[in-house]
Amino acid sequence: MAITICPVTPDFVAEVGDADLSRPLDPADLEAVADAFWKYAVLVFPGQHLTPEQHLEFAACFGPLETKLEVYREGNRARTPRGIEDLSNLDLDDGIKRTDNRIRLMRLANRLWHTDSTFKRVPAKVSMLYGREIPPIGGHTEYADTRAAYDALPERMKRRLQGMVAEHSFRASRARVGFTDFSEKENVGLPPVPQVMVRTIPESGRKSLYVASHIGRVLSLSPEEGDALVDELIAHATRRQFVYTHRWRQFDLVMWDDRCTLHRGLAYDDARWRRDIQRATVSDVANTCEQEGISAAE
Ligand code: OGA
Ligand code: MN
Repeated sequence: MAITICPVTPDFVAEVGDADLSRPLDPADLEAVADAFWKYAVLVFPGQHLTPEQHLEFAACFGPLETKLEVYREGNRARTPRGIEDLSNLDLDDGIKRTDNRIRLMRLANRLWHTDSTFKRVPAKVSMLYGREIPPIGGHTEYADTRAAYDALPERMKRRLQGMVAEHSFRASRARVGFTDFSEKENVGLPPVPQVMVRTIPESGRKSLYVASHIGRVLSLSPEEGDALVDELIAHATRRQFVYTHRWRQFDLVMWDDRCTLHRGLAYDDARWRRDIQRATVSDVANTCEQEGISAAE
C-alpha cells in the first residue's frame, strides 16, 4: 500500500501514514516522501517503532549523516550510538539528569529559536527527531516556516538582506542562555562560521530567511545594529501565522528541512518527567555562502 499524505497546514506541515520506516521504503514511496518534504518542510510520521540503526538508515536516504559535536561527549560512554544525538534529559545510567548537568545547561539553548548546526561550516540540511518517551505535559517542539516569513518581508528589507552574511557560533547561542563555561580546547574547536541570511532552496526555488540564535554578529553591521536586525527578523519569522506547535505522541518521528525552518523546544519539568527524544541529522552539501556564490569576506 502506498504512503498517504495528510496536510496539517496548507503548505508547511503534513502527516505521513501507511509508512513503516523500520524497513527501507520502496523507491516510489521514498520519492513521494521527498516530494512532500520539499513542498511542506515538516513531516510527521506517527507510530514508528525504530531502533537507532533503522532511524539512521532512513536519515541516510537524504544524504551524509552528521556526527556528534565534541562538547557533547561524556567520556567514552554514550546513551545513543554514533550518529544519533541524544536530546533526552537522561543520564548514562538512565536516570534523570541533575539540573546542574553540563550538557543539560548547554542544551537549554534548544529552547531558543534556531535551526540545526548553522555553527558548523556545512550546516544541517534535514533533522529527524524520534520520540521514545514523552512527558505528559510540556516539551512540545515549535517550527516556523522561514520561506513564508521571507515572502512576507517588505521589499525594502528583502533588498537590504541581499548578500548579507552573519557569523554563527555554538558559543553565541549558549551565551544567550548564560552558558559560557568552555575550556580553551573547546573554544578552539568551535570557531564562528559565515552563513548567508537569505538562501534559495534548490528543490522548490523558494527563498528562505536563514537566521538563528546561533548568530553572534552580522558582517558589515555594528554589533548593535546586527543584534537589532537579527532580533527583528527572528521575531518576524516566528509570528503566530508562520508557526506550528508539535505536541508529541510517543513514537512520532518528525523530520524538518533545516534550510527553511526555525524550531525550538518548549519547556517542561525536566527534573520530574522523562523525555527521551533522539535525532539523526543529515548534512547540507556546502557552506551556505558557497551555495549562494557570495564571498564571506567583510
Ligand atoms: C533538536 C532540537 C528541540 C526539542 O532536536 O534539534 O532543537 O524539542 N530539539 O527537543
Ligand atoms: Mn535543534
